Amino acid sequence: MAAALIDGRAAAEALRARVGIAADFFRAASGRAAGLATVLVGEDPASSVYIRSKIKATHEANMHGVHHPLPADTREEQLLALVEQLNRDPSVDGILVQLPLPDQIDTARVIAAIDPDKDVDGFHVVNAGRLAVGDPDALVPCTPLGCLHLLKSHLGSLSGLEAVVIGRSNIVGKPMAALLLAESCTVTIAHSRTSDLPEVCRRADILVAAVGRAEMVRGDWIKPGACLIDVGINRVAGAEPGKTRIVGDVAFDEAREVAGAITPVPGGVGPMTIAMLLRNTLVAAHRRAN
Ligand code: GUN
Repeated sequence: MAAALIDGRAAAEALRARVGIAADFFRAASGRAAGLATVLVGEDPASSVYIRSKIKATHEANMHGVHHPLPADTREEQLLALVEQLNRDPSVDGILVQLPLPDQIDTARVIAAIDPDKDVDGFHVVNAGRLAVGDPDALVPCTPLGCLHLLKSHLGSLSGLEAVVIGRSNIVGKPMAALLLAESCTVTIAHSRTSDLPEVCRRADILVAAVGRAEMVRGDWIKPGACLIDVGINRVAGAEPGKTRIVGDVAFDEAREVAGAITPVPGGVGPMTIAMLLRNTLVAAHRRAN
């Protein structure tokens, strides 16, 4: 039987609606809207699209969004000065500096300069540390948080399940593993140097693919009935000349024949990331107000 589809669009829409209602309550109780400041250096087309979606979603969720576009030749000190200004601004609850940054800017220095309590991306080492030790004050990176939401919605309790995360990035792989561990999964982080990756994947009741390689995970890597979360967004050549299409890190058609449930690409994890950004912004606003 073909796997169930985990509908990230519907889940994200429901979450955004709930956050929007809660944001209205926040505004009524505090006399101000929760505020998100976004920063984009340069005009990378993909980043511009992401930022536009984030700003639109912020407004739709009854929050205050202010965007700060900076030219591509912005110096690190200028960006750090803006971050400092946003740290001090009481109307700003969340700060998001869109990555990647141009080469002249040290990304780690910029992330380190963001007030951890306004770090709605959850990239600051203080938030990574909070997550690692199970501190509930952690602001958690949005993509893995979205993956966890989809997994729990579909499976209920994750306790005791074997989880394999492919990818060890600070943004997805490592926080994903920490979240699954906190749910009492037995967690393996696999990566480009893992030996016999297909065999490792075949152990997984939960398989999270976050490698950025189109359709790398094949049908015969998957344990029958497993729950697959595909974080990949890869552009590949389409059927017609000159056309492209977006695929995940999982070979969807093959995987669907074996898995119990699978997130589609697009329409799976992607929409959850923005929903979780809104959620993190509201959480940060509440903490700062109390
Ligand atoms: N670039 C791609 N994804 C993200 C994200 O989630 N946050 C930020 N700040 N930049 C990104």
